Amino acid sequence: MRNDDCWCGSGLKYKKCHMEQDEYLKKLSKEVGYKIPKDIIKTPNQIEGIRKSGVITHAILDLMEEVIKPGVTTEELNKIAHDYTIEHGGIPAPLNYGGFPKSICTSINEVVCHGIPEDRTLKDGDIINVDVTTILDGYYADASRMYIVGNASEEAVKLVNDTKKALELGMEQVKPFSTVGHIGHAIEGFANENGYSVVYEYGGHGIGTKFHEEPFVAHVGDPGEGMILLPGMVFTIEPMLNIGKPETRVLRDDWTAVTRDGSLSAQWEHTLVVTESGYEVLT
Ligand code: MF3
Ligand code: CO
Ligand code: CO
Repeated sequence: MRNDDCWCGSGLKYKKCHMEQDEYLKKLSKEVGYKIPKDIIKTPNQIEGIRKSGVITHAILDLMEEVIKPGVTTEELNKIAHDYTIEHGGIPAPLNYGGFPKSICTSINEVVCHGIPEDRTLKDGDIINVDVTTILDGYYADASRMYIVGNASEEAVKLVNDTKKALELGMEQVKPFSTVGHIGHAIEGFANENGYSVVYEYGGHGIGTKFHEEPFVAHVGDPGEGMILLPGMVFTIEPMLNIGKPETRVLRDDWTAVTRDGSLSAQWEHTLVVTESGYEVLT
């Protein structure tokens, strides 16, 4: 009822809190023909929280630009990211997530994702993805970039740049009443035209008050497939492109995902929110 306390626990009256959004969701559910879960659409307050968390994630990825060079260990990168997060009032989301032992993921060369920082040193010609997720005041912001260590092969540099382009093309599909399938289709089409395969065993994800929420954001697919995108939805896009085949396997450490054929892999990631006219990057 409009004068009751809101269901969200804010202590505000329902009419002053979630009533408007609930009515909006009811109307949208009717339009799209299925019930849209409440927590898929973030409130302006929640979006602001994720945006603030994203400032830390972004700053750490900038910092990596300065410190990644031949001779540095991924454990050193982990410590720099961990300390920066704590100093800015945040918590590194990966640490102890499902038993993950470190604060960032560092994925080198044929590692697709979820590489664990260790005392291995980076060497000239390596390509590395650093994946950072911050929790600030309970809000999650997840992003990753590729870095080239010293001088890499032309093929490796092209893979890195083309994977960034794939993320950008995916993001361009984001607007109200588009679908997750539009994103996957754009990424897959571009990747295949350029001779790459797209990893289908991992994908982007809803995010906000948890690390991984609905929907699953496949980086392959067709327009119209998957969830319909609506204003206030927050999710990641994080395509992984391989020079060889798309299949992956997980190493004995239970985390590190590598290409089965040992070919190079690259990934870029952003967290974004669907707006009335398109999208805003939050990282
Ligand atoms: N940041 C990764 C993602 O983009 C998830 C890492 S989970 C971890 O979804 F446990 F490996 F950190
Ligand atoms: Co992610
Ligand atoms: Co990530």
